[in-house]
Amino acid sequence: MKGFYHLGDVATSGVERLVARALELRRGAQARRFPGRSLGLVFFDPSLRTQASMQRGAARLGLELVQLQGGAGGMWGLETQDGVVMDGANAEHIREAAAVLGRFVDVLAVRAFPKGKSLEQDFADPLLEGFRRYSGVGVINLESSLWHPCQALADWTTLDQYQVPRRGKLVLTWAYHPKPLPHAVPNSTLCMAAQRGMEVVVVHPPAFGLHARIQEHAQDLARASGGSVRFTSDREAAFAGADVVYAKSWGSMDAWGQAEREAALRAPYRDWQVTERWMARTPRAKFMHCLPVRRNVVVADEVLDGPRSIVIDEAENRLHAQTALLEELFASLENPTTPAGLSGPSAASPNAKSKEIYS
Ligand code: CP
Repeated sequence: MKGFYHLGDVATSGVERLVARALELRRGAQARRFPGRSLGLVFFDPSLRTQASMQRGAARLGLELVQLQGGAGGMWGLETQDGVVMDGANAEHIREAAAVLGRFVDVLAVRAFPKGKSLEQDFADPLLEGFRRYSGVGVINLESSLWHPCQALADWTTLDQYQVPRRGKLVLTWAYHPKPLPHAVPNSTLCMAAQRGMEVVVVHPPAFGLHARIQEHAQDLARASGGSVRFTSDREAAFAGADVVYAKSWGSMDAWGQAEREAALRAPYRDWQVTERWMARTPRAKFMHCLPVRRNVVVADEVLDGPRSIVIDEAENRLHAQTALLEELFASLENPTTPAGLSGPSAASPNAKSKEIYS
Protein backbone atom coordinates (compact mmCIF):
# COMPACT_ATOMS: atom_id res chain seq x y z
CA MET A 1 0.00 0.00 0.00
CA LYS A 2 1.65 3.22 -1.13
CA GLY A 3 -0.97 5.88 -0.55
CA PHE A 4 -4.58 6.33 0.48
CA TYR A 5 -6.75 8.39 -1.85
CA HIS A 6 -10.22 6.81 -1.62
CA LEU A 7 -11.44 4.09 0.76
CA GLY A 8 -13.03 2.24 -2.17
CA ASP A 9 -9.54 1.79 -3.68
CA VAL A 10 -8.77 -0.55 -0.77
CA ALA A 11 -10.06 -4.13 -0.95
CA THR A 12 -12.76 -4.75 1.65
CA SER A 13 -10.58 -7.34 3.42
CA GLY A 14 -7.91 -4.63 3.79
CA VAL A 15 -10.42 -2.15 5.21
CA GLU A 16 -11.61 -4.80 7.67
CA ARG A 17 -8.03 -5.40 8.79
CA LEU A 18 -7.44 -1.65 9.30
CA VAL A 19 -10.70 -1.31 11.24
CA ALA A 20 -9.86 -4.30 13.46
CA ARG A 21 -6.43 -2.79 14.15
CA ALA A 22 -8.00 0.63 14.87
CA LEU A 23 -10.25 -0.99 17.47
CA GLU A 24 -7.24 -2.76 19.04
CA LEU A 25 -5.42 0.59 19.25
CA ARG A 26 -8.55 2.13 20.74
CA ARG A 27 -8.47 -0.55 23.46
CA GLY A 28 -4.87 0.40 24.26
CA ALA A 29 -2.65 -1.76 22.03
CA GLN A 30 0.83 -0.40 21.42
CA ALA A 31 1.51 0.96 17.94
CA ARG A 32 4.57 -0.26 16.03
CA ARG A 33 7.37 2.30 15.90
CA PHE A 34 9.33 3.42 12.83
CA PRO A 35 12.46 5.28 14.00
CA GLY A 36 14.02 7.56 11.40
CA ARG A 37 10.91 7.61 9.21
CA SER A 38 9.14 10.86 8.39
CA LEU A 39 5.67 12.15 7.50
CA GLY A 40 4.81 15.46 5.82
CA LEU A 41 1.49 17.12 6.68
CA VAL A 42 0.35 19.73 4.17
CA PHE A 43 -2.85 21.66 4.91
CA PHE A 44 -4.24 24.10 2.36
CA ASP A 45 -7.46 24.42 4.42
CA PRO A 46 -8.53 24.60 8.08
CA SER A 47 -8.77 21.55 10.33
CA LEU A 48 -9.09 20.57 13.97
CA ARG A 49 -9.61 16.77 14.03
CA THR A 50 -7.54 15.80 11.01
CA GLN A 51 -4.55 17.89 11.99
CA ALA A 52 -4.51 16.93 15.67
CA SER A 53 -5.18 13.22 15.04
CA MET A 54 -2.45 12.98 12.38
CA GLN A 55 0.03 14.66 14.74
CA ARG A 56 -0.86 12.30 17.60
CA GLY A 57 -0.92 9.26 15.33
CA ALA A 58 2.52 10.13 13.97
CA ALA A 59 3.85 10.57 17.52
CA ARG A 60 2.54 7.12 18.49
CA LEU A 61 4.60 5.62 15.65
CA GLY A 62 7.73 7.65 16.46
CA LEU A 63 7.60 9.48 13.12
CA GLU A 64 9.35 12.79 12.44
CA LEU A 65 6.85 15.38 11.26
CA VAL A 66 7.24 18.13 8.66
CA GLN A 67 4.19 20.43 8.81
CA LEU A 68 3.28 23.02 6.19
CA GLN A 69 0.32 25.35 5.69
CA GLY A 70 -0.92 26.67 2.38
CA GLY A 71 -2.21 30.23 2.03
CA ALA A 72 -0.91 33.58 3.22
CA GLY A 73 2.11 33.25 5.51
CA GLY A 74 2.54 29.57 4.58
CA MET A 75 3.75 27.86 1.43
CA TRP A 76 4.18 29.65 -1.87
CA GLY A 77 1.03 29.77 -3.96
CA LEU A 78 1.01 26.63 -6.12
CA GLU A 79 0.19 26.44 -9.81
CA THR A 80 -1.36 23.14 -10.87
CA GLN A 81 -1.97 23.69 -14.59
CA ASP A 82 0.67 22.73 -17.10
CA GLY A 83 1.94 25.02 -19.83
CA VAL A 84 0.81 28.29 -18.23
CA VAL A 85 2.86 31.49 -18.10
CA MET A 86 3.33 31.89 -14.36
CA ASP A 87 3.13 35.67 -14.15
CA GLY A 88 0.15 35.72 -11.77
CA ALA A 89 -0.23 35.07 -8.02
CA ASN A 90 1.26 31.57 -7.92
CA ALA A 91 5.02 31.50 -7.37
CA GLU A 92 5.74 27.76 -7.59
CA HIS A 93 4.50 24.85 -9.69
CA ILE A 94 3.17 21.68 -8.08
CA ARG A 95 5.72 19.71 -10.13
CA GLU A 96 8.68 21.16 -8.20
CA ALA A 97 6.92 21.58 -4.84
CA ALA A 98 5.74 17.97 -4.69
CA ALA A 99 9.03 16.57 -5.98
CA VAL A 100 11.05 18.53 -3.40
CA LEU A 101 8.81 17.54 -0.48
CA GLY A 102 9.06 13.93 -1.66
CA ARG A 103 12.84 14.16 -1.11
CA PHE A 104 12.35 15.28 2.51
CA VAL A 105 9.76 12.79 3.79
CA ASP A 106 8.74 9.14 3.31
CA VAL A 107 4.97 9.77 3.11
CA LEU A 108 2.96 12.94 2.45
CA ALA A 109 -0.54 13.70 3.74
CA VAL A 110 -2.43 16.53 2.04
CA ARG A 111 -5.69 18.42 2.63
CA ALA A 112 -6.97 20.51 -0.29
CA PHE A 113 -10.63 21.53 -0.55
CA PRO A 114 -12.30 22.54 -3.81
CA LYS A 115 -11.96 26.19 -4.80
CA GLY A 116 -15.73 26.37 -5.49
CA LYS A 117 -15.51 28.08 -8.89
CA SER A 118 -15.48 25.38 -11.55
CA LEU A 119 -17.05 21.97 -10.92
CA GLU A 120 -14.89 20.38 -13.60
CA GLN A 121 -11.64 21.77 -12.21
CA ASP A 122 -12.53 21.11 -8.58
CA PHE A 123 -13.48 17.52 -9.13
CA ALA A 124 -10.29 16.81 -11.06
CA ASP A 125 -8.64 17.16 -7.60
CA PRO A 126 -5.65 19.08 -9.03
CA LEU A 127 -3.59 19.45 -5.85
CA LEU A 128 -4.05 15.85 -4.65
CA GLU A 129 -3.41 14.59 -8.16
CA GLY A 130 -0.30 16.76 -8.43
CA PHE A 131 1.17 15.48 -5.17
CA ARG A 132 0.34 11.90 -6.16
CA ARG A 133 1.91 12.32 -9.58
CA TYR A 134 5.06 14.30 -8.78
CA SER A 135 6.09 13.60 -5.16
CA GLY A 136 7.46 10.09 -5.74
CA VAL A 137 6.12 8.99 -2.33
CA GLY A 138 2.82 7.68 -0.98
CA VAL A 139 0.18 10.36 -0.47
CA ILE A 140 -2.64 10.22 2.09
CA ASN A 141 -5.73 12.22 1.18
CA LEU A 142 -6.77 14.28 4.22
CA GLU A 143 -9.86 15.56 2.34
CA SER A 144 -9.92 16.63 -1.26
CA SER A 145 -12.74 17.76 -3.54
CA LEU A 146 -13.89 14.21 -4.06
CA TRP A 147 -13.08 12.13 -1.01
CA HIS A 148 -12.36 12.15 2.74
CA PRO A 149 -11.10 8.57 3.12
CA CYS A 150 -9.68 8.97 6.65
CA GLN A 151 -13.12 10.09 7.84
CA ALA A 152 -14.69 7.11 6.07
CA LEU A 153 -12.22 4.70 7.69
CA ALA A 154 -12.95 6.19 11.13
CA ASP A 155 -16.69 6.01 10.45
CA TRP A 156 -16.50 2.30 9.53
CA THR A 157 -14.52 1.82 12.77
CA THR A 158 -17.27 3.60 14.71
CA LEU A 159 -19.99 1.47 13.11
CA ASP A 160 -18.09 -1.68 14.15
CA GLN A 161 -17.42 -0.28 17.63
CA TYR A 162 -21.17 0.18 18.10
CA GLN A 163 -21.90 -3.20 16.51
CA VAL A 164 -24.12 -1.66 13.84
CA PRO A 165 -25.09 -4.64 11.67
CA ARG A 166 -23.27 -5.00 8.35
CA ARG A 167 -26.67 -5.05 6.63
CA GLY A 168 -28.00 -2.23 8.85
CA LYS A 169 -29.72 0.85 7.44
CA LEU A 170 -27.67 4.06 7.21
CA VAL A 171 -29.52 7.24 6.29
CA LEU A 172 -27.28 9.98 4.94
CA THR A 173 -29.39 13.11 5.27
CA TRP A 174 -28.64 16.45 3.66
CA ALA A 175 -28.91 19.28 6.18
CA TYR A 176 -29.25 23.03 5.76
CA HIS A 177 -26.08 25.13 6.17
CA PRO A 178 -25.45 28.82 5.50
CA LYS A 179 -22.69 27.98 3.01
CA PRO A 180 -22.37 25.53 0.12
CA LEU A 181 -20.06 22.81 1.46
CA PRO A 182 -17.88 20.35 -0.51
CA HIS A 183 -18.98 16.84 -1.46
CA ALA A 184 -16.03 14.86 -0.08
CA VAL A 185 -17.74 13.69 3.11
CA PRO A 186 -21.12 12.72 1.60
CA ASN A 187 -19.34 10.97 -1.30
CA SER A 188 -17.14 9.05 1.14
CA THR A 189 -19.94 8.23 3.59
CA LEU A 190 -22.15 6.91 0.81
CA CYS A 191 -19.40 4.75 -0.69
CA MET A 192 -18.10 3.54 2.71
CA ALA A 193 -21.56 2.35 3.76
CA ALA A 194 -22.18 0.75 0.35
CA GLN A 195 -18.81 -1.05 0.54
CA ARG A 196 -19.64 -2.23 4.07
CA GLY A 197 -22.80 -3.88 2.71
CA MET A 198 -25.36 -1.57 4.33
CA GLU A 199 -28.80 -0.48 3.19
CA VAL A 200 -27.92 3.11 2.32
CA VAL A 201 -30.58 5.78 1.83
CA VAL A 202 -29.44 9.26 0.78
CA VAL A 203 -32.16 11.84 1.43
CA HIS A 204 -31.81 15.34 0.01
CA PRO A 205 -33.86 18.17 -1.56
CA PRO A 206 -34.24 17.83 -5.32
CA ALA A 207 -31.44 20.22 -6.38
CA PHE A 208 -28.90 18.67 -3.98
CA GLY A 209 -28.10 15.28 -5.46
CA LEU A 210 -24.61 13.81 -5.52
CA HIS A 211 -22.78 13.45 -8.82
CA ALA A 212 -24.18 10.75 -11.11
CA ARG A 213 -20.79 9.05 -11.40
CA ILE A 214 -20.50 8.87 -7.60
CA GLN A 215 -23.98 7.36 -7.46
CA GLU A 216 -22.98 4.75 -10.06
CA HIS A 217 -19.79 3.98 -8.18
CA ALA A 218 -21.74 3.52 -4.93
CA GLN A 219 -24.17 1.19 -6.74
CA ASP A 220 -21.19 -0.86 -7.97
CA LEU A 221 -19.79 -1.09 -4.44
CA ALA A 222 -23.19 -2.13 -3.07
CA ARG A 223 -23.60 -4.80 -5.73
CA ALA A 224 -20.19 -6.23 -4.78
CA SER A 225 -20.92 -6.18 -1.04
CA GLY A 226 -24.57 -7.30 -1.07
CA GLY A 227 -25.74 -3.91 0.16
CA SER A 228 -28.09 -1.42 -1.51
CA VAL A 229 -28.18 2.30 -2.31
CA ARG A 230 -31.27 4.47 -2.79
CA PHE A 231 -31.80 8.22 -3.28
CA THR A 232 -34.97 10.03 -2.22
CA SER A 233 -36.40 13.36 -1.09
CA ASP A 234 -38.96 11.74 1.25
CA ARG A 235 -37.66 12.30 4.78
CA GLU A 236 -40.54 10.54 6.54
CA ALA A 237 -39.93 7.28 4.70
CA ALA A 238 -36.14 7.60 4.68
CA PHE A 239 -35.70 7.90 8.46
CA ALA A 240 -38.03 5.04 9.32
CA GLY A 241 -36.18 2.08 10.81
CA ALA A 242 -32.67 3.54 10.40
CA ASP A 243 -29.78 2.15 12.45
CA VAL A 244 -27.71 5.27 11.79
CA VAL A 245 -28.65 8.83 10.88
CA TYR A 246 -25.61 10.54 9.35
CA ALA A 247 -26.15 14.28 8.79
CA LYS A 248 -24.15 16.39 6.37
CA SER A 249 -24.66 19.47 4.27
CA TRP A 250 -23.35 19.88 0.74
CA GLY A 251 -23.68 22.43 -2.04
CA SER A 252 -25.80 22.12 -5.16
CA MET A 253 -24.00 21.09 -8.33
CA ASP A 254 -26.75 22.92 -10.24
CA ALA A 255 -25.22 26.25 -9.16
CA TRP A 256 -21.56 25.41 -8.44
CA GLY A 257 -19.56 28.63 -8.14
CA GLN A 258 -22.72 30.81 -8.30
CA ALA A 259 -23.11 31.89 -4.69
CA GLU A 260 -26.37 33.81 -4.97
CA ARG A 261 -28.13 31.20 -7.09
CA GLU A 262 -26.92 28.42 -4.82
CA ALA A 263 -28.15 30.28 -1.72
CA ALA A 264 -31.57 30.70 -3.36
CA LEU A 265 -31.71 26.96 -4.04
CA ARG A 266 -30.88 26.24 -0.38
CA ALA A 267 -33.13 28.88 1.22
CA PRO A 268 -36.41 26.88 1.20
CA TYR A 269 -34.80 24.03 3.16
CA ARG A 270 -33.88 25.70 6.47
CA ASP A 271 -36.03 23.12 8.22
CA TRP A 272 -33.75 20.30 7.03
CA GLN A 273 -32.26 20.03 10.50
CA VAL A 274 -32.01 16.78 12.48
CA THR A 275 -34.29 17.26 15.47
CA GLU A 276 -35.92 14.84 17.93
CA ARG A 277 -39.00 14.86 15.71
CA TRP A 278 -36.94 13.16 12.99
CA MET A 279 -34.96 10.90 15.31
CA ALA A 280 -38.31 9.73 16.73
CA ARG A 281 -38.96 8.10 13.34
CA THR A 282 -36.21 5.65 14.18
CA PRO A 283 -35.94 4.84 17.89
CA ARG A 284 -32.78 2.69 17.65
CA ALA A 285 -30.69 4.96 15.43
CA LYS A 286 -27.34 6.43 16.43
CA PHE A 287 -26.56 9.97 15.27
CA MET A 288 -23.29 10.58 13.40
CA HIS A 289 -21.61 13.67 11.93
CA CYS A 290 -17.98 14.18 10.92
CA LEU A 291 -17.74 17.56 12.78
CA PRO A 292 -17.40 20.49 12.86
CA VAL A 293 -21.16 20.94 13.06
CA ARG A 294 -23.36 24.03 13.40
CA ARG A 295 -25.68 23.52 16.38
CA ASN A 296 -29.35 24.21 15.80
CA VAL A 297 -28.72 24.62 12.09
CA VAL A 298 -27.59 21.13 11.00
CA VAL A 299 -28.62 19.32 14.20
CA ALA A 300 -30.57 20.36 17.29
CA ASP A 301 -28.85 20.52 20.69
CA GLU A 302 -31.28 17.89 21.96
CA VAL A 303 -29.95 15.34 19.45
CA LEU A 304 -26.27 16.29 19.57
CA ASP A 305 -26.25 16.25 23.38
CA GLY A 306 -28.55 13.25 23.64
CA PRO A 307 -27.67 9.60 24.34
CA ARG A 308 -27.88 8.54 20.70
CA SER A 309 -25.19 10.93 19.49
CA ILE A 310 -21.84 9.16 18.97
CA VAL A 311 -20.00 12.05 17.33
CA ILE A 312 -17.23 12.30 19.95
CA ASP A 313 -16.35 8.60 19.66
CA GLU A 314 -16.52 9.06 15.89
CA ALA A 315 -13.98 11.89 16.13
CA GLU A 316 -11.75 9.91 18.53
CA ASN A 317 -11.69 7.10 16.01
CA ARG A 318 -9.95 9.41 13.55
CA LEU A 319 -6.86 8.95 15.73
CA HIS A 320 -7.07 5.17 15.93
CA ALA A 321 -8.01 4.64 12.29
CA GLN A 322 -5.21 6.87 11.01
CA THR A 323 -2.68 5.26 13.37
CA ALA A 324 -3.66 1.89 11.90
CA LEU A 325 -3.36 3.33 8.40
CA LEU A 326 0.07 4.85 9.09
CA GLU A 327 1.26 1.53 10.53
CA GLU A 328 0.28 -0.25 7.30
CA LEU A 329 1.86 2.40 5.09
CA PHE A 330 5.15 2.56 6.98
CA ALA A 331 5.32 -1.22 7.41
CA SER A 332 5.06 -1.54 3.64
CA LEU A 333 8.08 0.79 3.29
CA GLU A 334 10.10 -1.56 5.54
CA ASN A 335 8.85 -4.56 3.58
CA PRO A 336 7.84 -3.47 0.09
CA THR A 337 5.71 -6.59 -0.45
CA THR A 338 2.29 -4.94 -0.33
CA PRO A 339 -0.22 -6.78 1.86
CA ALA A 340 -2.65 -8.44 -0.53
CA GLY A 341 -5.71 -6.93 1.10
CA LEU A 342 -4.52 -3.38 0.65
CA SER A 343 -3.45 -3.53 -2.97
CA GLY A 344 -4.91 -0.90 -5.28
CA PRO A 345 -7.93 -1.51 -7.46
CA SER A 346 -7.64 -3.96 -10.29
CA ALA A 347 -9.02 -3.08 -13.68
CA ALA A 348 -11.91 -5.42 -12.95
CA SER A 349 -12.70 -3.86 -9.60
CA PRO A 350 -15.67 -1.51 -9.38
CA ASN A 351 -13.32 0.69 -7.37
CA ALA A 352 -11.08 1.18 -10.40
CA LYS A 353 -13.51 3.90 -11.51
CA SER A 354 -12.79 6.13 -8.57
CA LYS A 355 -9.97 8.14 -10.11
CA GLU A 356 -11.83 8.85 -13.30
CA ILE A 357 -15.11 9.81 -11.71
CA TYR A 358 -15.03 13.39 -12.86
CA SER A 359 -12.78 13.03 -15.85
N1 CP B 1 -14.00 15.84 10.23
C1 CP B 1 -12.91 16.57 9.96
O1 CP B 1 -12.20 16.31 8.98
O2 CP B 1 -12.62 17.53 10.87
P1 CP B 1 -11.57 18.72 10.65
O3 CP B 1 -12.03 19.47 9.40
O4 CP B 1 -11.62 19.56 11.89
O5 CP B 1 -10.21 18.13 10.42
